[in-house]
Amino acid sequence: MTGQRTYYAPGRVNLIGEHTDYSGGFVLPCAIDRGITLCGSSAERISLRSDRGGERVVLTADGQGETDNWGRYAAAVAQELALAGRPPVGLEGWLRSDLPDGIGLSSSAALEVCLALALCDVAEFALPTIDLALLCQRAEWRAVGVPCGVMDQAAIVLGRRQHALFLDCASLSYEHVELPAELAIAIVGSGERRELASSGYADRRREVECGLAGDMDDTTSRRLRHVESENRRVLDTVAALRAGRNDLLGDLFLQSHRSLRDDFEVTTQRLDLLVSLSYEDGAVAARMTGAGFGGAIVALVPNDDARRFVGSVLHRFADRSGDSKPLRWDVVQAGDGACRLS
Ligand code: GLA
Repeated sequence: MTGQRTYYAPGRVNLIGEHTDYSGGFVLPCAIDRGITLCGSSAERISLRSDRGGERVVLTADGQGETDNWGRYAAAVAQELALAGRPPVGLEGWLRSDLPDGIGLSSSAALEVCLALALCDVAEFALPTIDLALLCQRAEWRAVGVPCGVMDQAAIVLGRRQHALFLDCASLSYEHVELPAELAIAIVGSGERRELASSGYADRRREVECGLAGDMDDTTSRRLRHVESENRRVLDTVAALRAGRNDLLGDLFLQSHRSLRDDFEVTTQRLDLLVSLSYEDGAVAARMTGAGFGGAIVALVPNDDARRFVGSVLHRFADRSGDSKPLRWDVVQAGDGACRLS
């Protein structure tokens, strides 16, 4: 029996390198300074509550049992860990989150990683960091059937304060790239709830794979053109950050957004409007972030201007779109990756 312990896993935001992870390309996400905390101790079964409400989730130590909502992730993580050889030790505890839901900050991947860390710890089962990320990626497939890449889970386990993660999704080698201290990361949700499972995510992945297998038509060649140009933009962004050339970021992010709009076709009118308002309002760089089909935009803005920037974008968005429903937003910094806190 372990005493009470606390585990933490952050959300993530992708700076650039969108829809490149599942074809072995480059990505540049960062963990953010918001996340999920799990407080718990070893037990016979898995028994968890969340401050987001809902029923207590109760499962056997290897993840069997009836679940829905977020319980599906708990079951999937425990089942993947059982397959990886984790001894069947349960976990009793509760979860608390300060991650806004539904704006594409990977709350599901944060939940998976937090649970996996805790379940490994109570069973004294060690997994190399990158294997933990890959296991949680498989748990996402198992839980909701989304064939996601490894970016989200990797950013969450490997995040470092004030740094982005430059990850090669083919070799899984990575480097941390320092972010400019004078810039904050503003995230503005489009108000369109993005349900990855029911969106075109799997279609896009299939189209890219068809293209890579040589099955070319107009659609697949545009999808591949996005992937190739986006991989170059990740390299250029890393080079610009290392050279302290913030002035180059705006064009790179804008090209990324346009490529996702025109070649990859995953933006929406609301995301397009938010990005153009961001540039008009003085963002250093802005683009849609995450899978698209709704979700959020990310904007790099001077720290001391971030609140004014968001206020102005929200105000003008309401004016231009005619939609007065408030949009969700947050201003964050790059934070540390998942860990046991105590
Ligand atoms: C989602 C997936 C990631 C990645 C992005 C698009 O966040 O979970 O693996 O493919 O979409 O870049």
